[in-house]
Order: sequence, then structure tokens, then C-alpha cells
Amino acid sequence: MTTPSDRQVFTAPGRTPTGPRRTRWQAEFPYHWDADDVVSRRELLRFAVLASGALFAATAGIAALGQLRPPRTSGRIAIARVGEIAPGGVKYFEYTPRDEQAILLRLANGQFVAYSGRCTHLSCAVYFDARQNKLLCPCHEGVFDPETGDPIAGPPQRPLPRITLRQEGDTLVATEEAPQ
Ligand code: FES
Repeated sequence: MTTPSDRQVFTAPGRTPTGPRRTRWQAEFPYHWDADDVVSRRELLRFAVLASGALFAATAGIAALGQLRPPRTSGRIAIARVGEIAPGGVKYFEYTPRDEQAILLRLANGQFVAYSGRCTHLSCAVYFDARQNKLLCPCHEGVFDPETGDPIAGPPQRPLPRITLRQEGDTLVATEEAPQ
């Protein structure tokens, strides 16, 4: 809504009015509609170019990371001798050349189990605490059951990926990592 003062004719100090008369708001906001339109388009174009560039760079980065880190593959790796680990004992091993640490446990009943050592919450390294008989993640106090790999406390919701084992003579062989 315009007021009488909006309609007041404005002339800059020391100038004589030339051309069409301007109101006060036109003087205070001295952009012509056409010029304003051009600036907006330019800004929009710049934003679109920058956004596309950022999107392209992010996509290229993700693709490059995918190339650097090959997908997990099943492997068959000898990881320990059967008599090497006493009941209640643990051995850490690399399951694949580029994978994180994995954990081999010998439970109190003599059975062997193995898990990925990467926490299913935010991927911190999990370790076995023999005193508590628990698999622990120090980052956010995640706790896993050593018999099943299931999460039993803290933020993790998924079990540790299990690595299946086979005994060949007196050697324990890791054969594959079970899907989560
Ligand atoms: S990363 Fe293991 S509990 Fe958060």
C-alpha cells in the first residue's frame, strides 16, 4: 500500500530533475527492473555452475574412492594353529590384504569363532576383553557377545560380520566373511 510520502517526488541534493520524476523509494532503491533481472539471472547461473561443479567433483571423488578400495572378497587364509590359542584366548589377524583387523577367539568350551574387527556402529576397531569375556568397542562403549557377535550394549545394532572357519589338520583356515 502506498502512502502519500511514497508518492513524494524525490530529487537528489544539488540536482535538477531530468527525465521522468522519481519517487522516494525509487531513489532509495535505484535499480531498474531490467538491470535487477539481469543480476538475478547471472547469480542463478553462477549458482547453477558452482552446484554442478561441486556435484561433479563429489561424484568423481566417490568413484575414485571406489577404485582405491576394492570390494570385499572372500578369501582362504591360514590364520592359526589349533594348539596356539588356549580356551579364552584371542588372536588378531588380517583377513584380506586391505581389510581391517579380524578377531579369532577360542571360547571357553574350546570352540573357535572369528569376526571382522570393525564395529558395526561407526567402524572403530573392536577388541576382546578376556577379563569381561566381551568384545568391546572403545569409541562409544559398544559391546558384542563373543559367542555370537551380536551387539549386547551401546549403539551398535548389527552383529559383527562372522568369518567362517575350517580346520585343516592342525591349521585353522578362514574361508569367508558371512554377510552382515
Ligand atoms: S564405533 Fe563402535 S560403538 Fe560406535
